[in-house]
Amino acid sequence: MKELESYKWRYATKKFDPKRRVSNSNIDVIKKAISLAPSSYGLQLFKVLIIENQKIKNRLRKVSYNQSQISDASHIFVFCNSTKIVEKDIDIFVENTSVIQEKKISEIQGYGNFLKKSLLKKDHREITIWTTNQVYIALSYLMTICASMKLDTCPIEGFESEKYNTILNLNQTNFSSSVVAAVGYRSEEDKSQHDKKVRKSFDQLFETI
Ligand SMILES: Cc1cc2nc3c(=O)[nH]c(=O)nc-3n(C[C@H](O)[C@H](O)[C@H](O)COP(=O)(O)O)c2cc1C
Repeated sequence: MKELESYKWRYATKKFDPKRRVSNSNIDVIKKAISLAPSSYGLQLFKVLIIENQKIKNRLRKVSYNQSQISDASHIFVFCNSTKIVEKDIDIFVENTSVIQEKKISEIQGYGNFLKKSLLKKDHREITIWTTNQVYIALSYLMTICASMKLDTCPIEGFESEKYNTILNLNQTNFSSSVVAAVGYRSEEDKSQHDKKVRKSFDQLFETI
């Protein structure tokens, strides 16, 4: 299966070729893939910052344990989860549903009110865990679409979220950086591309009941 072949081809790239840039048309495909990721109730309670500015990438590297992927990859995708849900988040969903599915607002309002009733009362911690989990689904969509296009990626949790939030002006918003993906082209010198994948055996990983 070609999907499995691309999963095998993908690896967490340690050294990117800083000279190669991902084209805008490929970035648009990645955006489309991320936007198609499923989310709880379809609310998409996250935002993705795409960093191509070299100066900002250099600053981010300093607060990412000096990982070279951050400055050398073509684009850095910073997945930011919502830390707070406000009425507007649900109103946007209701409006989009009305426009895209050609339904009257009045037909969807009941569902919107149900969402508001159940979600607006959740506390900060609950919201953060819930939305962060969903960001990882979007990250996985990015990595799989990139692998299918022979674009290299490295998922990155090794960074200081609060410092990212300051550099990326997220402090006054309802978003916080939660996970990062470096996207670009592997360097020929990256030795880790030749490493065999280490995975648990099926017996260790699965149990059929
Ligand atoms: C959520 C997440 C965070 C990760 N953070 C880092 C990171 O900060 N730096 C890094 O070099 N690799 C990071 N990795 C890559 C993993 O180490 C790598 O996926 C794992 O060792 C398996 O290797 P493979 O992806 O090459 O098959 C991360 C992976 C995931 C899924």
